[in-house]
Amino acid sequence: MRGNEIRRRFLAFFEDKGHLHLDSFPLIPKDDPSLLLIGAGMAPLKPYFTGKVTPPCKRVTTCQKCMRTGDLENVGRTARHHTFFEMLGNFSFGDYFKKDAIHWAWEFLTEELHLEPERLYVTIHPEDEEAYAIWHDEVGVPASHIYKLDDNFWEIGEGPCGPCSEIFYDQGEAFGTDPDNQMGGEGDRFLEIWNLVFSQYNRTADGRYEPLVHKNIDTGAGLERLAAVLQHKKNNFETDLIYPLIEQAAALAGVKYGEHEATDVALKVIADHARATTVLIGDGVLPSNEGRGYVLRRIIRRAVRQAKLLGIQEPVMATLVDTVIDLLGEGITDLPGKREFIKTNAATEEERFQRTLDQGLLLLQQRLDDLKAEGATVLAGSDVFKLYDTYGFPWELTEEIAAEAGVTIDRDGFVRA
Ligand code: ALA
Repeated sequence: MRGNEIRRRFLAFFEDKGHLHLDSFPLIPKDDPSLLLIGAGMAPLKPYFTGKVTPPCKRVTTCQKCMRTGDLENVGRTARHHTFFEMLGNFSFGDYFKKDAIHWAWEFLTEELHLEPERLYVTIHPEDEEAYAIWHDEVGVPASHIYKLDDNFWEIGEGPCGPCSEIFYDQGEAFGTDPDNQMGGEGDRFLEIWNLVFSQYNRTADGRYEPLVHKNIDTGAGLERLAAVLQHKKNNFETDLIYPLIEQAAALAGVKYGEHEATDVALKVIADHARATTVLIGDGVLPSNEGRGYVLRRIIRRAVRQAKLLGIQEPVMATLVDTVIDLLGEGITDLPGKREFIKTNAATEEERFQRTLDQGLLLLQQRLDDLKAEGATVLAGSDVFKLYDTYGFPWELTEEIAAEAGVTIDRDGFVRA
């Protein structure tokens, strides 16, 4: 089942259950200084959860554009880390609660997507007897497929939060049988495909948990993960939502995907970052030296360096933007109309960095060689600053390149410089 169809079916399924389908909100949060970028389907809906604003309908469904950059370095190296991704969600603002949320999630996965129930596992908060009873007694999930995990409590900074219940898909022993490959572990065998949050508290800026005026449902299912499961792909990058970008970048570089680990990582970084770049610029973020603009700059420059490693000579971002828009345009309907704006801004930033990238890399390589000769492992803050100030290297990029040579950077020294 293609990614576009999964999105369509999810939204239609919840529309059938009385939900109002709202378009994705922009990545730039509105009236929420606690967030730099929207990172979950619930984030733009916070005022509906807290009761501050009356929602247009007590049941809402969305496919929300999300950005998470907390572990940017992992993107490309794992099967499922992304910066930009799409999160499917159904939400209840003081309307239905655990029972319906659980039943509908199960119905969608097993009857609409036809996932085999034997491959599904769920986790719950250890004190959540109610969720256990619904899963076990009503849905009929065997006790051996229900795991109680202490950390099944979902929150993202300030705002609505609560105990949660996650649904995992067992991809089989070929993905690993070690302890990491357990529910909640880092392995790939059990893939979390859906999180049901029973939103009952509001976390305040000073870290207190206040009961909300009404109980809510906040769910999130990663579209790319569902696509990977349904398309039998071992990672999200190989799904129809992303793979054409990998192919295009591979063609530009004259390499093949799936032959060398390092090449694959570079291709995945480029594909991921091209998606993020397109959607960020589409939402009005422009490269700069602070805030959201810096996130975008970091992402573009990280991708450009990976393209360089693959030997790509031509501008990569503006070329890939067209493909990203073709791939995402059905879900993010305002993207096609912004095509030229996005391409121009992506290309400008790429050119700006291209002008200094080679010299900067040369300088950095010399410094790293010097350190190696001296047996030292810390790059001076003044060097990191020179690369930042004169050659346009975000310090995080320098840190990443240095780490590849086993060198850390003197961050305090950089800040002082
Ligand atoms: N807000 C929940 C999450 O992002 C559903 O996992």
